[in-house]
Amino acid sequence: MKVLVIGSGGREHAVIKALKKSPKVEKIYALPGNGGIAADAECYPVKATDIDGIAAFAKNHTIDFAVVTPDDPLVLGCVDQLEELGIPCFGPRANAAIIEGSKVFSKNLMKKYGIPTAESETFTNAEDAIAYLKKGSFPAVIKADGLALGKGVIIAQNFDEAEAGVREIMCDKVFGASGNRILVEEFLTGPEVSVLSFTDGKTVVPMVSSMDHKRALDGDLGLNTGGMGTVAPNPYYTEEIAKQCMETIFLPTMHAMNAEGRTFQGCLYFGLMLTPKGPKVIEYNCRFGDPETQVVLPLLESDLLEIMQAVRNGTLSETEVRFGKGAACCVVLASEGYPKHYESGFEISLPNVCEHEYIYIAGAKDADGKLLTSGGRVLGAAAAADTLQQAVSNAYALANRIHFENAYMRKDIGKRALAAMK
Ligand code: AMP
Ligand code: GLY
Repeated sequence: MKVLVIGSGGREHAVIKALKKSPKVEKIYALPGNGGIAADAECYPVKATDIDGIAAFAKNHTIDFAVVTPDDPLVLGCVDQLEELGIPCFGPRANAAIIEGSKVFSKNLMKKYGIPTAESETFTNAEDAIAYLKKGSFPAVIKADGLALGKGVIIAQNFDEAEAGVREIMCDKVFGASGNRILVEEFLTGPEVSVLSFTDGKTVVPMVSSMDHKRALDGDLGLNTGGMGTVAPNPYYTEEIAKQCMETIFLPTMHAMNAEGRTFQGCLYFGLMLTPKGPKVIEYNCRFGDPETQVVLPLLESDLLEIMQAVRNGTLSETEVRFGKGAACCVVLASEGYPKHYESGFEISLPNVCEHEYIYIAGAKDADGKLLTSGGRVLGAAAAADTLQQAVSNAYALANRIHFENAYMRKDIGKRALAAMK
């Protein structure tokens, strides 16, 4: 089969490497992919948001199956358009991708169907939000309604920070139209867990749980980033909590989307907080997480293409989804200065990898056969092993064999998870 993968990050590289293991896959195209992904897929410079361009490419290349991975093409209706051309896809249609595309939508859904989440109020006007915050307690959480490259959340420690945040989002429009509406949300506490799941609208099959490390600096300090590293499984996510999440969150969400006429088929990502009052939803994503995918897929033992086809065809309950018993860790190598200003264009030297080691390229381009850095998050060094301790140690050993001039990584990925296991 000829498979098309939309996107250009480390997550897409992990999806492509997993798909390559399927005996059914003859060829993989990536739009646009990147200089590193080019080692595993044929890349063409069509942007992930150019839906007409993607549709034309898929038709011209007689694609048999398409995997739409990033949030923006999903929200823009890429799956709808490809399916209309008769190309089966993995990924939700636009009317279901809204679960990530609008935080107001997802909050209202959770309220309507009694799915546990933080209390919140919605505002369409900055002055009303500021007046409300003046009477509220802190920290308070302010969220832009729409997509904001994972940066639309402000945790305000006091009223001044809250007011500044509201003005940035609603008046200065730092996230564009995404800030036309905001949510002001109760601040929750507890360990965070990412649970990616496959769902065809009839069954939800959670993947192995994971833990992201979103802050730039060791000790969870510094600015929020797209994610500096991950481990799987997440030790806080016990079997008992998993059962509770299935009953109170996963199945109710699937049924709620069906009841709204927005059946979700694809990867539904549950961003959870394990609060003293039980697990609550922090956010939904309509796609695989990045860099969660880089630790989840190395542990998948079943055929990813078969699972994706089953999700598309509504036959997930008949399909095997098996994860290994081990653990995985991914350490992100970023350009020094990320998520603010950084330089790029440095040559990356990559080592040979052994079994259970993976290098997932996110921000690199090919220049006459040399791989040069071209983004904030450059790549992920991932390893799977029998224990989390070993996976962390192997991922760092791999990361230390990779070189480019201004490479930066956190030194404590997995530390909190290992401490929690003791
Ligand atoms: P999000 O972009 O929705 O993933 O939010 C980014 C981060 O903000 C999350 O990973 C949490 O650490 C934090 N966060 C979001 N909502 C809340 C909340 N209601 N209470 C506490 N922290 C939150
Ligand atoms: N790692 C968080 C996300 O993909 O949104």
